Amino acid sequence: SFLDNLCDRVEKGLDEGLLPVEVFRDDTVFRAEMERIFARTWVFVAHASEIPNKGDFVLRRLGLDKVIVTRDDSGEINVMLNHCRHRGTEVCHHDKGNARTFKCPYHGWAYRNNGDWAGAPHLKDAYGGPLDKKEWGLLRAPRVEVLHGFIFAALSDEVPPLREHLGAAAWMFDAIFGLHPDGMKVIKEPERFIVKADWKSGAENFSGDAYHVSTAHLSASLSEFIPGVNQVSSVACAYDMGNGNSFIGHALPKLIGPEFEFWGYPKEYRDQFDLSSLDETQIEMLKTLPPTIGTLFPNFSYLRFPQPDRPGAMPVPFTSIRVWQPVSPGVMELWNYELEYAFLPDEFVEKCYMAGQFGFGSGGIFEQDDTAVWEGIAKVANSPWTRSKGMKLHYQQKREGADPTWKGPGLFYPAVYGENCQEEFWRRWLKDMKEGKSEQNGGNQ
Ligand code: FES
Ligand code: FE
Repeated sequence: SFLDNLCDRVEKGLDEGLLPVEVFRDDTVFRAEMERIFARTWVFVAHASEIPNKGDFVLRRLGLDKVIVTRDDSGEINVMLNHCRHRGTEVCHHDKGNARTFKCPYHGWAYRNNGDWAGAPHLKDAYGGPLDKKEWGLLRAPRVEVLHGFIFAALSDEVPPLREHLGAAAWMFDAIFGLHPDGMKVIKEPERFIVKADWKSGAENFSGDAYHVSTAHLSASLSEFIPGVNQVSSVACAYDMGNGNSFIGHALPKLIGPEFEFWGYPKEYRDQFDLSSLDETQIEMLKTLPPTIGTLFPNFSYLRFPQPDRPGAMPVPFTSIRVWQPVSPGVMELWNYELEYAFLPDEFVEKCYMAGQFGFGSGGIFEQDDTAVWEGIAKVANSPWTRSKGMKLHYQQKREGADPTWKGPGLFYPAVYGENCQEEFWRRWLKDMKEGKSEQNGGNQ
């Protein structure tokens, strides 16, 4: 089939540092990604701080589906498909709120906030009595786990526990998000906007592309919003945490000054971090080469970087989670969450938020640069010209070996050049696309 053939070509291509261009926009590839990747692995859906109280809910996405993420009356978190079991109408039409039940707008079937079927109008006449509350409840993601407040769901029962699944990436997650017992909180509703680029362009970029910064983001330097941003790739490194999960680090203290250990959190706040659960390598990493950018396969990316909250101001670290939501072949919806440690005072949080908005809000200077260049990839991937000629993209940047003295999990590359992490991203993609096939043939659909 086309897909088998494409997977073979991707596999051979990667061995040579080449990637067939059509992976970035193709109907068949896209459909297979939804079935073989998004329906089979852990996917981030929401943050626990968005639903702090019983009855709270947010409407989020899992692959192509809308899901209601609730904290039910017993305090448990549920991830449920937002479609009525009667005729399939969308049950919830609010982005967020607090509700004990959800009532379908078509015929009025109602569901509890844990998904159980709760009732229907004219119950006796229409049905003779109540239906089975579990059998006719909303479809639920069978697996839901929370790591440092980040809620992940899986539609497959077969996935290993989240921490085990993330492996070395969980170690990195702990170092980034586990620095205070009160955890992090989402500051405002996530922004979302359509980008005419493939979801993998964002995920792959954040997995290891520090190389583009000096060109794509040059205007941030020329405008003196962030002087010297064109130099940051020269102090970047890469952490390959395996399984398509990887991070970029930046020698911020070396680049800007010693106060930029721990991403530049002011000392008074840094002193309140609790590092007791971190190992020596994690602490040393946060001092010298803090992880600034990263991707957890498939579509969750992270960004924490010191930036000014207005031109000329002292940089403060903002934290952004970017979710590359697939919409259709070559089109994604970009979700930008800004978070901050919950213990930080409001005025500092506001500064961090503004810094994030200036750089990576939907109108941010970096955001505009990135989304514009990615759109070209989705265009060329769909061209009859490139299809007929079998155009391949170049992943052959000079490869540096991993640092043999690295004591942490995964692999550490002292220089970011090499595209090692991007290759790992594609190898994981390939693995899922191949493994998902056998399951589908087994009648899973
Ligand atoms: Fe929901 Fe009929 S479709 S009640
Ligand atoms: Fe960028």
